[in-house]
Amino acid sequence: MNPLQRHYLVMLFTAALTLLSLLSPGLLHVASKPITPVRKSPVTLPFARRMNVTGGRDIFRMDQARAKSLKTVSSIHGAQSKEELKKSAAGAAFGVPSTNQGVDYIVEIEVGTPPTKYNLLVDTGSSNTWICCETTYNPSDTSFDTGNGVYVEYGSGVMTGEEYLDVLHLAPGLSITNQSIGVALVAVGFDGVDGLLGIGPQVLTYGNLFPDSTSFTPTVTDNLYDQGIIAKPFVGISFQPTNDAAESRNGELTFGGVDESKFVGEMNFVPLTQTLPAAYYVGIDQSVTYGSEKTMILNTTAGITDTGTTLLLLASDAVVVYQDLTGAVFDEDTGLLRITPAQFAKLESLFFTIGNETYEFTANAQIWPRALNSAIGGTSDFVYLVVSDIGTPSGYGLDFINGMVFLERFYTVYDTLGNQFGIARTAQTDAEVN
Ligand SMILES: *[C@@H]1O[C@H](CO)[C@@H](O)[C@H](O)[C@H]1NC(C)=O
Ligand SMILES: *[C@@H]1O[C@H](CO)[C@@H](O)[C@H](O)[C@H]1NC(C)=O
Ligand SMILES: *[C@@H]1O[C@H](CO)[C@@H](O)[C@H](O)[C@H]1NC(C)=O
Ligand SMILES: *[C@@H]1O[C@H](CO)[C@@H](O)[C@H](O)[C@H]1NC(C)=O
Repeated sequence: MNPLQRHYLVMLFTAALTLLSLLSPGLLHVASKPITPVRKSPVTLPFARRMNVTGGRDIFRMDQARAKSLKTVSSIHGAQSKEELKKSAAGAAFGVPSTNQGVDYIVEIEVGTPPTKYNLLVDTGSSNTWICCETTYNPSDTSFDTGNGVYVEYGSGVMTGEEYLDVLHLAPGLSITNQSIGVALVAVGFDGVDGLLGIGPQVLTYGNLFPDSTSFTPTVTDNLYDQGIIAKPFVGISFQPTNDAAESRNGELTFGGVDESKFVGEMNFVPLTQTLPAAYYVGIDQSVTYGSEKTMILNTTAGITDTGTTLLLLASDAVVVYQDLTGAVFDEDTGLLRITPAQFAKLESLFFTIGNETYEFTANAQIWPRALNSAIGGTSDFVYLVVSDIGTPSGYGLDFINGMVFLERFYTVYDTLGNQFGIARTAQTDAEVN
């Protein structure tokens, strides 16, 4: 099945579900037994940032490798033996150092009985949840071995393991029963974290199990909604910018709604993009202009928002125009674009048009925190920019990735079922933190 066929399958599947729920509201959830009444208020988890950059272009390499893999929707894996998979995963060659994530955005959850704590990467660009590793996992009365293996490739790593159903505790008193969880036998490229919480669209799980390679795996969000724990399948993302190198727990992940206290003004909802491959992820259409002259650098095109990307990646031709306008040059040491302090004094805002609204991304938002220049192999003589090249020219169907540097300046909401994305300004949108 090629990506297009898969796309149609998903569209058909979604249409069938919509029809079914219209014809018979409630029918879809007959099988689920709500263990807790639907919560009126959303569930909120602390969301932390951890940095472990050693310089040498880590962040740029990691982000570009991820962009490349997101643009190539991974092949569907047929049934293979666990031994074979273990071998191929361990021997897999990646173009990036797989021992360093650079910047991780993580949540702490618990799995199993008795509960064991795991720090998981939060990823809107993939949709399998898994923990590492078999050594920390104790199957108990709440766990069910599905008999399936699981295999997922990422831009900078790969995991393979066994697929279990078990209880996942998101917050005190808030648990999901029978959540599918991969228990890693091999995880390459995930040092310093205990696995991954995949909260992207369910379609991305298709083909990741074996031998049952034609099923979808419900995400945490899907199960919260299907088990009647949350009222809406919303994921809200809030993160305050920080120039602290230590772990900063100043973010918040919200399931089931939005946290009104984390944004200001109106929440602007737009339909998700239809353009592939962006449509596989949290894809939107946007255009980007620069400065008071509103010079177009990226005309309306499809791309994604992504918690698994640190930087703001734009199509190569847009970056050329941006460099021309700002005087930025590529810095070999950090892999980022850099400008001089004098050029920074003249740096103007970028403007993102999403739906009918335009969002200002200030000069301060466009720079790497100066207090952390040495952490990425830079010096205090320069100002490094978080705007980087996605690696392909525009027209690819995935022409930008609004990574965490963007998500730190706005509150965003992702509604899987409603096929919509929401964005609002926050108290930190114009903050002078960097
Ligand atoms: C979890 O799934 C297993 C296998 O499908 C099933 O036997 C069990 O009843 C389920 N448990 C709950 C609490 O739904
Ligand atoms: C940080 O990065 C170094 C070098 O890549 C690695 O050896 C170390 O395990 C990492 N530490 C954490 C906590 O991820
Ligand atoms: C952007 O694209 C639209 C539609 O294709 C076109 O009308 C417009 O002229 C373009 N704008 C710029 C500045 O290129
Ligand atoms: C943008 O404005 C037009 C005209 O008012 C309206 O029809 C359309 O629905 C709006 N789009 C969004 C995404 O809000």
